[in-house]
Amino acid sequence: MFRFIYSVASVATVFCLASATGFASDEAAGGASPIELFEQRIMPIFKSPKPSSCVQCHLASVDLKEYILPSHEQTFVSLRDEGLIDVKNPDNSKILNLIGMGEKDLDKGARLIHARTRKAEYDAFAAWIKACCADPKIRDLPPLEGVPTAKPKKPDPVIEYTRKSRVVDSFARNVWSQRMRCFPCHTPHELDASNPKHEKPIARHKELVKKFGQKVNIFRESPEATLRHLMISSRRPRPDRFPLINVDDPAKSLLVLKPTSKLPKKGEDGKFEKPSSGEPVSHMGGLKMHVNDQSYKSFIAWIQDYSRVVGDQYESADELPLDNWYPSKQALRVKNAPDSWDVLTSVQLFVHAWNDAEDSWSAEPVAFTQGTVTPRRMVNGMLFLLVPADSDKHETWDREGAVLPDGKYLVKTYVDSDGRLAEDPALFLTETDYFGQATIETPWKEGFRDAKVLDGPLLQK
Ligand code: HEC
Ligand code: HEC
Repeated sequence: MFRFIYSVASVATVFCLASATGFASDEAAGGASPIELFEQRIMPIFKSPKPSSCVQCHLASVDLKEYILPSHEQTFVSLRDEGLIDVKNPDNSKILNLIGMGEKDLDKGARLIHARTRKAEYDAFAAWIKACCADPKIRDLPPLEGVPTAKPKKPDPVIEYTRKSRVVDSFARNVWSQRMRCFPCHTPHELDASNPKHEKPIARHKELVKKFGQKVNIFRESPEATLRHLMISSRRPRPDRFPLINVDDPAKSLLVLKPTSKLPKKGEDGKFEKPSSGEPVSHMGGLKMHVNDQSYKSFIAWIQDYSRVVGDQYESADELPLDNWYPSKQALRVKNAPDSWDVLTSVQLFVHAWNDAEDSWSAEPVAFTQGTVTPRRMVNGMLFLLVPADSDKHETWDREGAVLPDGKYLVKTYVDSDGRLAEDPALFLTETDYFGQATIETPWKEGFRDAKVLDGPLLQK
C-alpha cells in the first residue's frame, strides 16, 4: 500500500534547519563594486518575466523579485532590516538560505530543472551581499524612510499553504486515494502479474491502451507523477475537449466529468460511438462516480483548491481551506431514508465522537461523508476523517486509509434541500440544512458491504 515516504512537516524541518546552503559562493566577483554587481546581476532577475527558482516549491505567492527594490542601496537596507541579510556573516544570510532551499528538495527532477536559475540567483546575491557588507558606507546606511521595505505581498501562512508539497499531499489524500474506483482501466500500477485474480483485468487494461492510447493511464506510479500528468495534459486548451483539470471551472474538469458520464450512444451497427470529451461528455468506462458522492466531493474540493493556488487567489490566512480530510475505508449508511428526503438529494453525514472526560459529544465532527438518496432510499459513503489543524496526526496518518477507532458516535444529518451544492460542490452544509441525529455504536469494518448502518426512522431533531 502506498504511504507518503516523508510527511510534509518533516520535509519542512529538513529545509528549515538547513543553514549551510551547499553552494560555494562565487568568488569570481573579481572586485566589481556593489552597484555594478547589482546592476549586472540582480537587476536582470528583477526584470526577468520568468519566475524565480522559488517556483520549484512555491506554486504561487512568493517570488525572489518581491525582495528587490529598483535602487541597490534601498534593496540592501530593506533586506538587512527585514533580517534577511546577516551583516556579520554574509554567507549565512537568510535570503541565501531561501534561495539555497531548492538544493535540498528530495524531488531530484525538480532540483535539476531549477538548478541553473537557482545557481545564477545564488551567486548574484552572494557576491552582491558580500560586497555590500564589506563596504561600511553601505553596511551602515540608515533605515529606509518613506519607502516600504520589500517583502512578499502574501502573508507567511498563504506562502506556506501554496507550496507544491502541500498541494501534492492534498492530492494524495483527496484524489489518488480514490483510484481503486477506476481499477483496472486507469490504474496500470495496481496491476500485479503475479496475482491470478489480475489476469483478466490486465488483459482488459492492455486492450484499452491499445484502443485509446496512453491517456487511459491516468493514475501513474505516484501521486506526484499523476499530478504532473494531469497538469501537463491540462495546459493547452483544446476546442474539442475539456481539460482534465479545469482551473477556470472546476466542475467542468474531465477528471470528474468522465466518471459521472454515461457510455456513448450506440450507432446503427450496434457499436458504441466515439466517446466525447466535449459537451456532452460520454465515458467509455460508463458511470463510475455519482455527482455529489464522497469521491466526487473530494475530487472537486481538491480541484477548486488547486485552481485557487495556481491562480494566486488566496490573499489571507482566513481564506485558506482547512485541507484536513483523510480518506478511510470505513463506510456509513443510512437505510430507510426519511420520506422528506427526495431521491437524488445530497445528504451530508457528520460523525461526532464521544468524549468521556467532558461527558459530551465532540463539538467538532471527527468524520464526514456525503452521498445522494438512492432509489432504494439509502445514503452511502466512505468516511473522510477530519483532523484539527494543529494535530500531529497530519504527520503520521496514512494518506489512503486513516482509521476511526471503534466506539460510540453521534451522526448528524444535513440535507441539501435548496440545491446549494450545485453552486458550490465543495460546501459543507450548515445549521439551516440540519435534519436530525442518531447515535451509533461500532465496531467498524472495511468496505461498503460492511458499512455501519443507521436506520432512518431513528433520526431525531
Ligand atoms: C525546496 C523547496 C523550497 C524552495 C525552493 C523554496 N522554499 Fe520557501 N518554503 C519551503 C518550505 C517547506 C516552507 C515552509 C516552512 C515551514 O513550514 O516552516 C517555506 C516557507 C517559506 C516562507 C514562509 C516563511 C518562512 O520562512 O517559513 C517564505 C517567505 C519562503 N518560503 C520564501 C521562499 C523564497 C523567496 C524562495 C526562493 C528564493 C523559496 N522560499 C524557495 C520550501 C521551499
Ligand atoms: C471499465 C473501465 C473504466 C473505468 C473503471 C473507469 N474508466 Fe475512465 N475511461 C475509460 C476509457 C476506456 C476511457 C477512454 C475513452 C473515453 O474517453 O471515454 C476513459 C477515459 C477517462 C478520462 C479521460 C482521459 C483523457 O485524458 O482523455 C477520464 C478523466 C476518466 N476516464 C476518469 C475516470 C475516473 C476518475 C474513473 C474512476 C472513478 C474512471 N474513469 C473509471 C474506462 C474506464
